[in-house]
Amino acid sequence: MSGSTITPWVVGNWKMNPMQANAQQLIIDLKQQLKAGDILAGTCRIGVAPVSIALLTTKAQLEDATVEVMTVAQDVSRVAGTGAYTGEVSAELLKDSQIDYVLIGHSERREIFADTASVVAEKVKNALSAGLHIIYCVGESLEQREAGQAEQVVLQQICDISVVVNAEQWSNITVAYEPIWAIGTGKTASPEDAQSMHAKIRQGLTQITPFGANTAILYGGSVKAENAVELAACPDINGALVGGASLNAESFYQIAHAFAQSK
Ligand code: PGA
Repeated sequence: MSGSTITPWVVGNWKMNPMQANAQQLIIDLKQQLKAGDILAGTCRIGVAPVSIALLTTKAQLEDATVEVMTVAQDVSRVAGTGAYTGEVSAELLKDSQIDYVLIGHSERREIFADTASVVAEKVKNALSAGLHIIYCVGESLEQREAGQAEQVVLQQICDISVVVNAEQWSNITVAYEPIWAIGTGKTASPEDAQSMHAKIRQGLTQITPFGANTAILYGGSVKAENAVELAACPDINGALVGGASLNAESFYQIAHAFAQSK
């Protein structure tokens, strides 16, 4: 037991996966796991983040899940509203389609798609104005960790958005700490290292918002069924953002189960 009163979140980030038929099967399998399992309502907030073209079908397919599963967008436009912005999906369009949650600042977006700190801040601002709940991703690279800059980098990423988020809006933000060197590599931060960074993030949050003590801080980076129990036992690790292991319903279920039990 972690002793935390924060309801954990376990969110599957499907990234640019899987093909339609496999996605549908994955949802069928996940619903089956949830039906057969013993995760009690209210013990864990479960979500999945499919590719944008699958958001609405995923949401519809999850409607009859025995445990609520949130449908989460993987990204949002830096531009608000509607207009001549080919290829973009705004926060308002997500909200209009009853998609209430969005990932912002994932390291793959920052590194591959040039989501700079200012782009990320614009996305956060728009998402909050449209009434979305954000899962805000932060994390350092291996070079930054080895140079002893991990804490500074992560706290700066929190500061980067604090200029556009007012104190009350922090209640609509969940933070995901994902060290870049642990994403998709099979290397997980040790529970001690992860807990230590989470505690620093929490300390930083409590300085900028009264909601800091209650903000869910998720860990991400090679979370699997095998390491979920020990991560879930850490007091400031309030859930997981799961990539690879979320593409298997049983693994994903077991991770959610580990966090639900840790409450
Ligand atoms: P991983 O990805 O679990 O495959 O490491 C996590 C993420 O990028 O959110």
